[in-house]
Amino acid sequence: MSDTKFTFDVIIVGSGAAGLGLALSMPSHLKIAILSKLSMHESSTYYAQGGISAVLDELDSTDSHKRDTIKAGAGLCHEDIVELVVSKGKASIDWLMEHKVQFSFDDNEHSDNKLHLTREGGHSHRRVVHADDSTGRAVQTALCDQVVGRANIKLFEHHNVIDLVCNTDRHTTKKSIAGCYVLDTKKDTIFSMRAPCVALATGGASKVYLYTSNPDVSTGDGIAMAWRAGCRVANMEFMQFHPTCLFHPQAKSFLLSEAIRGEGGLLLLPDGSRFMPNFDKRAELAPRDIVARAIDHEMKRLGVSSVFLDISHRTAKFTKSHFPMLYERCLAFGFDMTKDPLPVVPAAHYTCGGVMTDKQGLTDIDGLYAIGETAFTGLHGANRMASNSILECLVFAKQASEAITTFLEQSPKLSTIRPWDDSKVINSDEAIVVSHNWAELRQFMWDYVGIVRSTKRLQRAKNRISLLSKEIEDYYVNFHVTSDFLELRNLVQAAELIVDSALLRKESRGLHYTLDFPLLDDERFKKDTILTP
Ligand code: FAD
Ligand code: SIN
Repeated sequence: MSDTKFTFDVIIVGSGAAGLGLALSMPSHLKIAILSKLSMHESSTYYAQGGISAVLDELDSTDSHKRDTIKAGAGLCHEDIVELVVSKGKASIDWLMEHKVQFSFDDNEHSDNKLHLTREGGHSHRRVVHADDSTGRAVQTALCDQVVGRANIKLFEHHNVIDLVCNTDRHTTKKSIAGCYVLDTKKDTIFSMRAPCVALATGGASKVYLYTSNPDVSTGDGIAMAWRAGCRVANMEFMQFHPTCLFHPQAKSFLLSEAIRGEGGLLLLPDGSRFMPNFDKRAELAPRDIVARAIDHEMKRLGVSSVFLDISHRTAKFTKSHFPMLYERCLAFGFDMTKDPLPVVPAAHYTCGGVMTDKQGLTDIDGLYAIGETAFTGLHGANRMASNSILECLVFAKQASEAITTFLEQSPKLSTIRPWDDSKVINSDEAIVVSHNWAELRQFMWDYVGIVRSTKRLQRAKNRISLLSKEIEDYYVNFHVTSDFLELRNLVQAAELIVDSALLRKESRGLHYTLDFPLLDDERFKKDTILTP
């Protein structure tokens, strides 16, 4: 395949809410590529359950949404970014509806055909717009349908972006984007793509942990690629654990939406008693860092393998109509949520840190943007509030689309890209190295860099990461790359950024809790952790 065959105005890496939102917001005369590692539907976006926060109720206000976000973020949210995002809640929902996303309406006869709003942790009002309990599926399928109909957008499914290619200005040393190298995983060929603009919309890095609510694609690729290319990365210590994933050997940490607690679900110990009121006055609706840590504490204190989420006090009709997908899935695992409490444990869920961007999604490299979960915008601070993520994806997709359109009007020049050279590599006869290292990494990240950390545990993880990094570098220069290998390489990079950031934060704040520094230290640490390559 010719190395320069694929030339675009914009290359969008990722087909979740951020990537599709950007593609659909760009003017139709621009030639756009969207790449996804698997099918275009497979993303965290597809699996989103609870919904999208937006101020729609007349008793609610953007000030209140802002206050709740900042409170959940434990002192590190950037107020200007919070303001920007929450002020665009309604416009984002309107945009999704214009793009044929079907949300749930309130079936109350007095509701006047209004969208139904549910509630989740940290929110002081009902402000979560949803499509039953499968909001992500509604968003993903509608936006995919729209993208497929656009003549200016070319889809590259089953294409794994390996690395970014940049140019460096000899005088200023400023970098600009030239394109990327891509592995076509079906044909097992590597080629380059060129564009004056690349947007990373690659999602988070939660697969770095053994137990995660995320799909397989969440391997921190955008964060690792941007870091290797020279971008700063911030706040990677703040990995969010969702408090309630189904505890069942076959369930693969299947998420049980926070909206269950929003609609009255209670967290119980094995003896049937509630424990959240002992930890926070908001009880089951406290922000996630607090609830996940409380569950972890109770499980360790009692030596039990799960706690329980109980909504059986609501009518079966209510539960089945609000949570139809969850009801069916739980039933398939042998649990009737209308009658029985569900065994739950926390699992890695969301990457609050990421590639540093400005208000337009621009990174440290000219022409390179990062949006959605892969980016660090300053919105989430030390802990993301529920249902603020898809909103952030959509707001920054729009922001970036405007900036990219302006940038392209200045006709930035296209660079040539050296062809991918694999003349000196051979096929690996040791695929076991990749699978072994995957398993090892995810296990020690879970054990040493999880909900409760200590300097000793972090240091242990750091030592192991440095051994893995050396093996990976060696493998990279000697063998043909595979998708599994590329993901491992990125996960190890993401793990290193998480551990290094966690070691720097010598206090406990939001999602970062360490036994060695259990208190908040505003004087020294009320600031972002910024790593520079
Ligand atoms: P994603 O949707 O994860 O998309 C990433 C895309 O990047 C994929 O297409 C992937 O193939 C592609 N990609 C990655 N690496 C590469 C590469 N190297 N080459 C090519 N393509 C690549 N948030 C909410 O706001 N509300 C919710 O109710 C909610 N519920 C959730 C429930 C679950 C189970 C999960 C996992 C998350 C939930 N979240 C929720 C979080 C939210 O879904 C995500 O943060 C958000 O959807 C991320 O969107 P994104 O576009 O940034 O990335
Ligand atoms: C959920 O439904 O609990 C997930 C919501 C989110 O992660 O924002």
